[in-house]
Amino acid sequence: MILPIYIYGQPVLRKVAEPIDKDYPGLDELIQNMKDTMYDSDGIGIAAPQVGVSARVVYIDVDALSDKFPELKDKRLVLINPEITVDETSPTETREEGCLSVPGIHENVTRHTKIHIHYFDENWQEHDEDIDTYLARVIQHECDHLEGHVFIDHISAIRKQMIRSKLNNMLKGKVDCDYRVKVYKPSRKH
Ligand code: NI
Repeated sequence: MILPIYIYGQPVLRKVAEPIDKDYPGLDELIQNMKDTMYDSDGIGIAAPQVGVSARVVYIDVDALSDKFPELKDKRLVLINPEITVDETSPTETREEGCLSVPGIHENVTRHTKIHIHYFDENWQEHDEDIDTYLARVIQHECDHLEGHVFIDHISAIRKQMIRSKLNNMLKGKVDCDYRVKVYKPSRKH
């Protein structure tokens, strides 16, 4: 089922998401809904808070980037309770990022190129992997969501100023994109 994407300003995007266990109710359905929602909005990654669920679950499909990065062919991952360690000794790289929760904004983000990740997949198989492809960036972006961060937290104050009016529009519920969204509606104060 396609769910609405929670947009910048929604409190769930600023919460540290909860780890889950095997008894988490509706996990298979959550993962399926995240996939449906991500493909419908042409994303390459989605974290549960982006569909309003504060749980440490991520889905990534970077196969669409395999023309540019052949090593990403058929790379599809469900990450449950991922723990990433960024290799601070690895080189950094600056590339443009976007986010389904921050539509219409693309900004350069500098990240380290190598990470180690420990996670469980949808079958609760445990994985320990070193990743030094473009996937390392996507995983960092998605795992940021689980910590209550979004990619624009990484950009400079000047760049943030440049996109301020777009962000303010989002906070006011004005969003221009072709997928269903859920904007933040502050309760009116009198
Ligand atoms: Ni994102």
